[in-house]
Amino acid sequence: MRIVELLAATLALAPSTAAFDPLEATIASTHHDLYTGLTTCREIVESFISRIESLNNRTNAIIALNPYALEDADDCDKKLAANNGTYGRLFGIPILLKDNFDTSFMPTTGANADMAHSQPTVDAPSVAAFKNAGAIILGKTNLHELALEGISVSSLGGQTINPYDLMRTPGGSSGGTGAAIAASFAVWGTGTDTVNSLRSPASANSLWSLRPTRGLISRAGVIPISYTQDTIGPIARCVQDVATALTVMAEGKYDADDNVTALVPAGIKGTDYGSSLSAGSLKGLRFGLLEGFFNRTASDETTPVNDAMRMQVEKIRRAGATVVPINDTIYDANKIISALDVQRYEYREELTKYLQKPLLSGIHPNSTEELYASDKFLVLPSGYEYVTTSLVSSTSNASYDTALAGIQNLTLALQKTFVASHLDALIYPEQKNLVVKLGSPSQSGRNGILAALTGSPVVTVPAGFSPATDTAPDGVPIGMEILGRQWTEQKLLQIAYQIEQLGRVRKTPSWARQRVNVRNYTSVPTIVPNVGNIPDEYPLGQL
Ligand SMILES: *[C@@H]1O[C@H](CO)[C@@H](O)[C@H](O)[C@H]1NC(C)=O
Ligand SMILES: *[C@@H]1O[C@H](CO)[C@@H](O)[C@H](O)[C@H]1NC(C)=O
Ligand SMILES: *[C@@H]1O[C@H](CO)[C@@H](O)[C@H](O)[C@H]1NC(C)=O
Ligand SMILES: *[C@@H]1O[C@H](CO)[C@@H](O)[C@H](O)[C@H]1NC(C)=O
Ligand SMILES: *[C@@H]1O[C@H](CO)[C@@H](O)[C@H](O)[C@H]1NC(C)=O
Ligand SMILES: *[C@@H]1O[C@H](CO)[C@@H](O)[C@H](O)[C@H]1NC(C)=O
Ligand SMILES: *[C@@H]1O[C@H](CO)[C@@H](O)[C@H](O)[C@H]1NC(C)=O
Ligand SMILES: *[C@@H]1O[C@H](CO)[C@@H](O)[C@H](O)[C@H]1NC(C)=O
Ligand SMILES: *[C@@H]1O[C@H](CO)[C@@H](O)[C@H](O)[C@H]1NC(C)=O
Repeated sequence: MRIVELLAATLALAPSTAAFDPLEATIASTHHDLYTGLTTCREIVESFISRIESLNNRTNAIIALNPYALEDADDCDKKLAANNGTYGRLFGIPILLKDNFDTSFMPTTGANADMAHSQPTVDAPSVAAFKNAGAIILGKTNLHELALEGISVSSLGGQTINPYDLMRTPGGSSGGTGAAIAASFAVWGTGTDTVNSLRSPASANSLWSLRPTRGLISRAGVIPISYTQDTIGPIARCVQDVATALTVMAEGKYDADDNVTALVPAGIKGTDYGSSLSAGSLKGLRFGLLEGFFNRTASDETTPVNDAMRMQVEKIRRAGATVVPINDTIYDANKIISALDVQRYEYREELTKYLQKPLLSGIHPNSTEELYASDKFLVLPSGYEYVTTSLVSSTSNASYDTALAGIQNLTLALQKTFVASHLDALIYPEQKNLVVKLGSPSQSGRNGILAALTGSPVVTVPAGFSPATDTAPDGVPIGMEILGRQWTEQKLLQIAYQIEQLGRVRKTPSWARQRVNVRNYTSVPTIVPNVGNIPDEYPLGQL
């Protein structure tokens, strides 16, 4: 073979000639390649779109791509060429939004077929903040329909499959974002969390997430469930990216459209969460291990979680921290959720308010009742007790006030635990068992309710994997929560960073390690979610 032929053969075999490698890319690695001139915003965006186009069918994580993503990339390259100013923290960084964040440039559906054409006319404040910081919004991800459960199945998006195990769910409700970020379909993405919904997909996809203190980030312009429990936050492949994303989301500005933002203390406003990550240390810190948040009955589903947590605790102790067991019987997630979860009282009124806001255009139901009178939603095997109860409940039920008083009491009890045991943070597994299999009635065994009710911040970190099986060649990811007192995000991120330094836990799913040829697009391709893969267990409505 002559040199030219040899070269041609090599090029044909080479997976990609692009300089930029999207696989496990971080904000820092992307900025390095962009600012040293190795790549362009267009190439970065095309490389992620190429991955999505080739690989999304394995996991079905994407609801729709942003038709303007290439134009946004070209604008970004123009700014770079003009070189006439400072670049935002997320300049040129492709991100994915869970499809319950309002976007003026594409529908916001909650992954519900009845809302397929619901079109916000303004961006959610968080989305506006991403754009201001220079981010390129690649598209929207699937979620458990209207963010109500943790299976991540929906009438508009179908079933999202766990990237690590063909037989399992990706956690949820932000399961589309979790699966997409695990597969390197974007640098990072957003989620929302009413009970578990940022942390469960982080845990099930070997990722990091942050559930913020209630009030730190405005929830305006996000399809609501609960005034008391809703929060929004980032999911990413490293602590540093979670911290940068949080810095952009949590400007600390008061937002009249979400009055809990008035709670932010002056000293917290404008914090740069990414600047001092390495300043922390685990030496001398005290962690409380919540014994009630484990299932100690040995089984294939629970033992891997208990083993991974035991190894995490050993690592943290070896790094110089103290871990003390907290055996208080109030820390029983199932009891707390059945006594104090207030979604059922708040959901109907909150969603109706969203559906009736003047800034929402496009065809959409005008109330929660109208949505559930359609047959365009999936029903859970329980008969959807959660939704049917919410349709006959409101914040004027007498028992709502009792629950709110119970939440105040739980919040005080949690503070007492911190003070009495001199704790810096509480640790426990996000889920007592592995993330559930496809077709399951619910995402059982999760521990998110404590932070959800008390408005406490939590950083979720990868903790390990279960043993490999035929359907899960890398094992199933297991995640640990680090819960702190309100407004201690900076400290929690420093702790998570130190734990990240103790040894790499995260793995890329093996099928997602492949490099994909980067295509040159003239327009953003259409990605159609697979609704043909919905398990029979979840039929379309009526209630
Ligand atoms: C995804 O698409 C590729 C290429 O068309 C195909 O080879 C593969 O079997 C598909 N995978 C799934 C899970 O459908
Ligand atoms: C900087 O460059 C951009 C893109 O070329 C241009 O639109 C903008 O007006 C310039 N700004 C300044 C301050 O020159
Ligand atoms: C805060 O907003 C909620 C929901 O919109 C409303 O019910 C409540 O009355 C407001 N509280 C105050 C003190 O403004
Ligand atoms: C604990 O795990 C076992 C084995 O998987 C399961 O049968 C049991 O229902 C779990 N207990 C609770 C309270 O979830
Ligand atoms: C708390 O639980 C741990 C683990 O089950 C046990 O070793 C310890 O003795 C218990 N402590 C108290 C004070 O009951
Ligand atoms: C909502 O739509 C129903 C019919 O679908 C109609 O009867 C009702 O008046 C509408 N309500 C509002 C507030 O527009
Ligand atoms: C609220 O009150 C209604 C009417 O009494 C009742 O049907 C419903 O179950 C109550 N909701 C809750 C969550 O207890
Ligand atoms: C308040 O919390 C304490 C400790 O958890 C518990 O013993 C008490 O019963 C609770 N009181 C109410 C009114 O919920
Ligand atoms: C795609 O465009 C870039 C320039 O932006 C060029 O270097 C590359 O060769 C093109 N790739 C293909 C496959 O046409």
